[in-house]
Amino acid sequence: MANLNVEYGGLVFKNPIVAASGPLGRTFEALKRSIEAGCGAVALKSNNAKPKETVEPPPSAHIFARPAHTFLGKYGLKNMMINWEGVPVEFTAEKQKAMIERIKPIAKEHDCRVIANMHPDPMYVEDIALFKQDMRTILSAKPDLIEFCVCPYHIPHEVTYPETQDYDLIDEMMAPVYEAAMEVAEVPVIAKHNGPIFHRSAETFTGLGVTQFHVTEGPQFYGTVVDIESMEPLVPGPAVITYGAHRRPIMNLQCSRTRALGDGFDLMSSGGVWSANDAIERMMCGAQLVALHTAVQYHGHELFTKIITRIDEWLDSRGLELDQIVGKAVPQIVSQEAHDSFMRERNRPAEGIRPVIELDDCNGCGLCANCIHGGISMRDKKAQTHLENCVRCGVCDSVCVPNAITMQVQ
Ligand SMILES: Cc1cc2nc3c(=O)[nH]c(=O)nc-3n(C[C@H](O)[C@H](O)[C@H](O)COP(=O)(O)O)c2cc1C
Repeated sequence: MANLNVEYGGLVFKNPIVAASGPLGRTFEALKRSIEAGCGAVALKSNNAKPKETVEPPPSAHIFARPAHTFLGKYGLKNMMINWEGVPVEFTAEKQKAMIERIKPIAKEHDCRVIANMHPDPMYVEDIALFKQDMRTILSAKPDLIEFCVCPYHIPHEVTYPETQDYDLIDEMMAPVYEAAMEVAEVPVIAKHNGPIFHRSAETFTGLGVTQFHVTEGPQFYGTVVDIESMEPLVPGPAVITYGAHRRPIMNLQCSRTRALGDGFDLMSSGGVWSANDAIERMMCGAQLVALHTAVQYHGHELFTKIITRIDEWLDSRGLELDQIVGKAVPQIVSQEAHDSFMRERNRPAEGIRPVIELDDCNGCGLCANCIHGGISMRDKKAQTHLENCVRCGVCDSVCVPNAITMQVQ
């Protein structure tokens, strides 16, 4: 068995897999199942500040439009979900405290870390005393760490909307919150934001002593889907977040770019991780801890166990330790030099490369023969090339499931 222990925030986690904040951290049953499935840590659903009579609550922050989550498979988008979940007002600091107290003995029994989670929403930003009071309430339940997540429902639209995207505002908004958090915190504090926020504000955060980051994607993924029978969008308005596997490559890049900012912080990442391979890949992009949510909502808690087991087997079969893979891909991903040498190596004349078909391996599916240039056709249920038409784009190679076609240097 490989050693899956990871250090993050000065604490040892038994493995790098975390049940991310959200519905997975909202009920006792969901938390217990993540713990029993073997997670290294579980994060609580974010609490919310109580709406105060004097303060207008943010438009969508205190509602729970139902159904809140719609998987989009039947609309042609596999492994994707629309989340229309506001932060439920009834999940107050007192509720989170009570949930942590209830789940802690089970977590302890399974050597699983418990991460509290707060939304520094506008009410907290306006009322730091209330924020500190709620944070103290939550910390009195003795979580191992506390995470702060700025959700798109709670950040000014100027920050998140593509038209404006003013990340300086986050810095202004979060600095006093983190300052207050560091005053109150007795446990490691995690800043959970999207990549561009870290790219802009990492120094501010570390300057305030926040040295645990969780890079995820949130605000930038607005979108909707129209049900063509009713001719109506599944959810109206722009504030709809799509979660799922499509986030994986974007988050790989954001995670790598965050890791490349320096080594003065520990890094967790979530977004689009659906398998052990995805988790291993994210670690190669610099994450010490990998958190999952949507894939577990889809496949159930068993996915956690499968992923942890498979990471163990993968490392074992290669004789590798986790610290030999974490961040391995980052230098290449973030380096202009690596990009340029990649281009120099691959920028071959078309005649320098061609598709070669191993006929014994061809299963006759005909996908490669969809070549828009007429570079491949089918004869007797086998693929054949027409090099005079081929532009050497590589599509045939990439669609060939049995790997019967490979692009080869001539
Ligand atoms: C329905 C839903 C609710 C969420 N609520 C919260 C939340 O309250 N606080 C938080 O920090 N993150 C929340 N998240 C974000 C997740 O923790 C995670 O960072 C994100 O979903 C990306 O991971 P995934 O692609 O594995 O889902 C939520 C995610 C989903 C899908």
